[in-house]
Amino acid sequence: MTDSPAPEVHRGLAGVVADTTAISKVDPATNSLLYRGYPVQDLAATQPFEAVAHLLWHGELPSSAELGALQQRERSLRAMDERTRRAIDDLPLHTHPMDVLRTAVSQLGGLDETLLREDGILDPELNRDRAIHLFAQLPGIVAHTQRRRRGLDPVPPRDDLDYARNFLWQTFGEVPDDAVVDAFRVSLVLYAEHSFNASTFTARVVASTLSDVYSAVTAAIGALKGPLHGGANEAVMHAFAEIGSADRAEAWLDDALAAKRKVMGFGHRVYRHGDSRVPSMKAALDALVAHYDRTDLADLYDALESAFVERKGIYPNLDYPAGPAYHLMGFDTETFTPIFVAARVTGWTAHVAEQQGANSLIRPLSQYVGPERREVPGR
Ligand code: COA
Repeated sequence: MTDSPAPEVHRGLAGVVADTTAISKVDPATNSLLYRGYPVQDLAATQPFEAVAHLLWHGELPSSAELGALQQRERSLRAMDERTRRAIDDLPLHTHPMDVLRTAVSQLGGLDETLLREDGILDPELNRDRAIHLFAQLPGIVAHTQRRRRGLDPVPPRDDLDYARNFLWQTFGEVPDDAVVDAFRVSLVLYAEHSFNASTFTARVVASTLSDVYSAVTAAIGALKGPLHGGANEAVMHAFAEIGSADRAEAWLDDALAAKRKVMGFGHRVYRHGDSRVPSMKAALDALVAHYDRTDLADLYDALESAFVERKGIYPNLDYPAGPAYHLMGFDTETFTPIFVAARVTGWTAHVAEQQGANSLIRPLSQYVGPERREVPGR
């Protein structure tokens, strides 16, 4: 009997098309990213974040009445439940904000009694409500976590402010200039969705078991935390702090490459010639550099980028400009990836709905390479 040929193994699922999606299209050949057909840079240039959330969830940009209704609903759901606040405050101050957020989202699931209804887990309408609820809750959780680490009291939400302004208000207790708000809004739009990336795929795997949306988002947060994924925006700022100034960038990079360290904020599994989202975020960073008069940071950014592109021919991804942008806005470095979560929850929840709308359990195969069958000693 001849052995059947070994199946082809796709490590990291690289190059594997796992399903169809109508939510976003990443095209490395043209360096483009479309949300429901719209170029992301055009959405970033023109749309409030709430309109992009509506687009991802419903497939179309909202009419002004639909946008008004979503904004009203989102504003009405911002207040933090006392039990969520206690769950956060019970964690030690050293807990990483991504772990705080993961715990808080899991706890929100525990508070949602509608999950207990018959068909309550999968009801599309309930899931749409849950998506808006998570969307509305996350800024308050992220903001409270940063303030708590700084020894500051929480700032209650304001229902006269849009999503981006309220996020900044709850974090800093003031609304910054429009230039800052706009850079923040742009970052949220760019971070909202990116097809079958690791965290979105994680959310879809969980959703495919017909589990609930909170479980899918909690798992996705765990996947996003890693430095090869969302954690890269935080890691970029740690690298900047280590390098210190532009004149030291080349030497730092040579050491990093000699030690075979990955340089965070560069490279991408899908884009090979640059990330389509970088030009919009770099323009937002430039506006912040001008606003805060921090050309030293821009010089360091440019020095590391040109040295890396020259040595490796690998280009920055969105996390490279987003990290320093959040730093200039005044966010703690550990808050960067939680902001990414707040934005990406729109994409994750859209994918959960898409997955469960035409479900097939996600369950790949593996090629076994362990010992052949053998006897248990003493049997
Ligand atoms: N720093 C140093 N080397 C890098 C690199 C980086 N940021 N990105 C890729 N490379 C190197 C790899 O080590 C590999 O080198 P080798 O052939 O000598 O082993 C080569 O470039 C090809 O990269 P590859 O491993 O095929 O990329 P991938 O598709 O597996 O990984 C990432 C993609 C994103 C995981 C990878 O680029 C990375 O780790 N980047 C840093 C983390 C980051 O910014 N993540 C956010 C992504 S949006």
